[in-house]
Amino acid sequence: MRGFGSDNHSGVHPRILKAIERANVEHMPSYGTDPITEEANQLMRKIFGAEAETFFVFNGTAANVLALSALVEPFHAVLASEHSHLINDECGAPEKNLGAKIIGLPSADAKVTPDLLRSRLVRRGDQHASQVRAVSITQSTELGTIYSIDEIRAISEFCRKERLLLHLDGSRLVNAAASLGCSLREITTDCGVDVMSLGGTKNGLLFGEAVVFLRAGLSEDFKYRRKQMMQLPSKTRFLAAQFHEFLGTALWLENATHANRMARLLAEGLSQSKYAKITQAVQANAVFARFPRKMVARLKERAFFYVWNETTFECRLMTTWDTTESDVRGFVQAVEELGPLHSDGSFV
Ligand SMILES: Cc1ncc(COP(=O)(O)O)c(C=O)c1O
Repeated sequence: MRGFGSDNHSGVHPRILKAIERANVEHMPSYGTDPITEEANQLMRKIFGAEAETFFVFNGTAANVLALSALVEPFHAVLASEHSHLINDECGAPEKNLGAKIIGLPSADAKVTPDLLRSRLVRRGDQHASQVRAVSITQSTELGTIYSIDEIRAISEFCRKERLLLHLDGSRLVNAAASLGCSLREITTDCGVDVMSLGGTKNGLLFGEAVVFLRAGLSEDFKYRRKQMMQLPSKTRFLAAQFHEFLGTALWLENATHANRMARLLAEGLSQSKYAKITQAVQANAVFARFPRKMVARLKERAFFYVWNETTFECRLMTTWDTTESDVRGFVQAVEELGPLHSDGSFV
């Protein structure tokens, strides 16, 4: 049985490997000046709109930090959910490299709302306070929930009105689009997002992310920022080729739809067990659940997953493009087998 540790525990989709192989011919110019990268940039404009400017980087943390670096100065602040990757899982890279303050907003479902943002829009113009300049949202969120199109639009309208810039961490954007049944553009450019970090590693790519500016006027100095932050890949063609295959065909939709379906199946199975309690809405490819505490270590031996919150013992199970129905059934069965042996009925 494969584990549920993360959607980046899975390997590389064979079609992505083939795309890398196809790009592995002849000599080509480096640093993003090759024809494959140009073709991928054009594809991004086709998908996200004529103003889209794409910059490939090595990983998601860099994409987030770099995207925000184009929006804020060190005396600015960025508002994000307290659950955001930006705040919890980037080892302070945003604070170190931006110099700006990242402010976490309390949120049960990892989403922010205009009301929540408004509550932190204080001391504007006060020279003693960091000035809120940007908002960062994650789609799908770190708790596996999803913003509707209307919710993102409401946030972006709020941002426009308040002269704030909107960043979207789209490490799992494709899972959100597949779940909502909409195009990638409908939940980004058309909703007024300014810049996004676009991922693929969690849906079958080998590595690489893209910083995509969705409207003109923000990316002017970005090539210098990327280089200064050591994120300009010399053989960019191999990143571009992956994104071209991923987004230029239905692969993103197939992989994300499959991962989302496996999560729903897992949630259905677990919700029928008295040894599991689902704790978050299952809207993308994550299932958050609690199990009898004594059972967790044994269960993790059968199929790995993370205890996400060490205080509440809430666990996170991620499904991915290669999760199978049999992985899911095996896990649900393991819960039923281990439950009677290792449970005292307590979930804390
Ligand atoms: C929401 C989110 N953003 C960004 C990232 C990208 O991080 P990395 O630097 O590991 O590529 C991740 C990876 O776990 C993530 O879950």
